[in-house]
Amino acid sequence: MSDASLAAPPVKASPFHNLEVLWVRHWTDQLFSFALKRPEDFRFRSGEFVMIGLPGEDGGKPVLRAYSIASPFWAEELEFFSIKVADGPLTSRLQKIQPGDSVLMGKKPTGTLVLDAVTGGERLWLIGTGTGLAPWLSVARDPETYSRFKQVIVCHTVRNVADLAYRDFFTHEIHDDPLIGDEAKAQLTYYPTVTRERFETPGRITDRIKSGDVFADLQLPIGFSPNSDRVMLCGAMAMIKETGELLETYGLKEGSNAEPGDYVLERAFVG
Ligand SMILES: Cc1cc2nc3c(=O)[nH]c(=O)nc-3n(C[C@H](O)[C@H](O)[C@H](O)COP(=O)(O)OP(=O)(O)OC[C@H]3O[C@@H](n4cnc5c(N)ncnc54)[C@H](O)[C@@H]3O)c2cc1C
Ligand SMILES: NC(=O)c1ccc[n+]([C@@H]2O[C@H](COP(=O)([O-])OP(=O)(O)OC[C@H]3O[C@@H](n4cnc5c(N)ncnc54)[C@H](OP(=O)(O)O)[C@@H]3O)[C@@H](O)[C@H]2O)c1
Repeated sequence: MSDASLAAPPVKASPFHNLEVLWVRHWTDQLFSFALKRPEDFRFRSGEFVMIGLPGEDGGKPVLRAYSIASPFWAEELEFFSIKVADGPLTSRLQKIQPGDSVLMGKKPTGTLVLDAVTGGERLWLIGTGTGLAPWLSVARDPETYSRFKQVIVCHTVRNVADLAYRDFFTHEIHDDPLIGDEAKAQLTYYPTVTRERFETPGRITDRIKSGDVFADLQLPIGFSPNSDRVMLCGAMAMIKETGELLETYGLKEGSNAEPGDYVLERAFVG
């Protein structure tokens, strides 16, 4: 028998980390957040997404879905903001995780909602619907965001007031962040809108852009300018499509990692 036939077959590295759940927070019966222990060798850029999952039931294939990382690149833990779909193959089970459980995470983060994909400007608009807020939790905690842009505006549109997860975070807690608290206080504006309940800034963000209300509320010149405005979009596909088309009418051009531009988008879910 040759040496080669005695050698153990090469061990194929798993494409997933198996990570401990550190905490879970339920916002509503539709939304929750959780954090996973960060592997020491895991690097990502603020705004990227990664595959998250659970082992298949009865030894079947793992169930994996794309998730924006809600933590900034420097964070010790990896936070995620998730929908609960009652009959969703992943989230019907994922919503039941507890601290100490394990969750699978892919090793290759990727995505276009990153500072590298937008060119310089004065104002960065981070526009999200529903869980499309997740990447802004990351980008808004990255110091580079504040050195690149004088003003950062986080727009979050949801159905009900209770769906405004992270409202306290954007209005108060972020100001105490030891790394970017002072910058956030001076440069970050949070602009929530609610579509199916009474609220001080009611309606879809797209409608408030078209009516000019958002610009009036924020005391900004009406409309977007390719000279000063840069935009990131995440959430419902219809919102992304509509806003992207609107931005093009103002002369903004879509960017990518290969060719940075005035606005970038990611479809956080199909719908
Ligand atoms: C690039 C990318 C990033 C994503 N980031 C996130 C994230 O940070 N947080 C998150 O919760 N989801 C995110 N998603 C969606 C996620 O991948 C899954 O679809 C979601 O976790 C539901 O999985 P599921 O298997 O339970 O149901 P699925 O079979 O995947 O979805 C069932 C249906 O539920 C609806 N749905 C799915 N996800 C959402 C959602 N997030 N909001 C509203 N409706 C939804 C859609 O109508 C979909 O057809 C992202 C998707 C992509 C492509
Ligand atoms: N309270 C609830 O019952 C509740 C709450 C949250 C989620 N859910 C469930 O979870 C699923 C996902 O819901 P979701 O609320 O996260 O996502 P969603 O249905 O995409 O809605 C999120 C927000 O995006 C807005 N929106 C949708 N299309 C838009 C567009 N073209 N332009 C601008 N804004 C747009 C919605 O406004 P509109 O309201 O005008 O559509 C809503 O305020 C749904 O299937 C639902 O069953 C239910």
